[in-house]
Amino acid sequence: MRIDPAGSITGHIAVPGDKSISHRALLIGALTEGDVRVSGFGRSGDTESTLAAVRALGVLVDEPSEDELVVHGAGVSGLREASGPVDCGNAGTLLRLLTGVLAGQRGRFELTGDASLRSRPMGRVAEPLARMGAEITTTEGAAPVVIEGSGSLRGIEYALPVASAQVKSAILLAALNAVGTTTVIEPTPTRDHTELMLQAAGARVRRRSSSVSIEPATRLRLEEVRVPGDFSAAAPFLVAATLLAGSELTVHDIGLNPRRTGLLSVLERMGARISAYNRRRLGGEWVGDLSVRSAELVGTEVTADEVPLLVDELPLFALTAAFARGESRVTGAGELRVKESDRIETVVSSLRTLGVRIRARSDGYDVRGVPSRPRGGEMQSAGDHRVAMLGAVAGLVSREGVEVGGADAVTISFPGFFDLLDSVSRR
Ligand code: S3P
Repeated sequence: MRIDPAGSITGHIAVPGDKSISHRALLIGALTEGDVRVSGFGRSGDTESTLAAVRALGVLVDEPSEDELVVHGAGVSGLREASGPVDCGNAGTLLRLLTGVLAGQRGRFELTGDASLRSRPMGRVAEPLARMGAEITTTEGAAPVVIEGSGSLRGIEYALPVASAQVKSAILLAALNAVGTTTVIEPTPTRDHTELMLQAAGARVRRRSSSVSIEPATRLRLEEVRVPGDFSAAAPFLVAATLLAGSELTVHDIGLNPRRTGLLSVLERMGARISAYNRRRLGGEWVGDLSVRSAELVGTEVTADEVPLLVDELPLFALTAAFARGESRVTGAGELRVKESDRIETVVSSLRTLGVRIRARSDGYDVRGVPSRPRGGEMQSAGDHRVAMLGAVAGLVSREGVEVGGADAVTISFPGFFDLLDSVSRR
């Protein structure tokens, strides 16, 4: 895909439903009793994997329209053995959360995925679940994973060694079928969509600033999940509009959960002009509209405490920093090395090829801002949807445009990304 330089970004847009919440609507919906009506479901490669996975486990799901689902819950311990391995595709969230769900179900389950997913760490999930009494076998610490479901899980208190919402969620979901209280302690707060949705479904959840406790549940009920727009899908547009002079963009109905919007705080202290309005609650989640105008930026530092709040936006931060006066830096983000690609490696190598002054660190990167557009050129997505979107935004803000190899990776989270980008780009 070739992305030509743009003058500005203008217009009003909405983006697909939040991917994290869409996964959870299916996985938690599957464990409820009765029907869960899901609206604003974010269709993408990853969420299609989750839809297929819950169906393979015996859950009926109707699709009355493109972004509406009705999940006929099977009950907290009502999932059935699939007829073969369950393919999680490229979706780390599905693989990790489903391992937690299945730990307390009856039966034997095998979960696998594509080559990228099979290279990602699963020991971080298997280890705490084993402490709960689950029988989980990984393949050298990764997928394929075999789960011998157990009816006798015990609640645990567990301090997460890495800040990971996926690991936290896997433990909380297993805890629904355990005996006694489970508490997960976080080194730094991560996204809390699982806690919020379980609470809405009637689970007894106690949230504190750096830990969460949950009691076992015999029955969950959730009438509806209204999925807000995905902040991570809006982020490339927010960045492009900030960087291109004369831009004016409004993004409607976007998820503004404070544990997801770290990029807004970072952009704000760099001098960006983004304002949020129409803030309201949709279920347990904050939603609103964002309006963005272009701005001159200054460099900043992102450190470990802030990383989970913008973990999926750190690639875009690197490009933003290339336009900001002075030096910028990300540290404490070693987790980027175990995402859909090694995102320290893929971000640094692709942005360098395009003319950005960026250097890798073991746990992040250093970026030197310069007052002119990067040259552009060719880069590869390495099959990583966030890297493909980064390349597209880099193309808009470059002098000569960017050719993104493997651009179809965007379908993993945002199939209509290039069309939407084209619709708001002005010469
Ligand atoms: C996610 C958690 C994060 C994030 C991923 C989605 C989730 O992963 O990077 O895209 O939905 O829980 P980690 O938990 O591995 O940090």
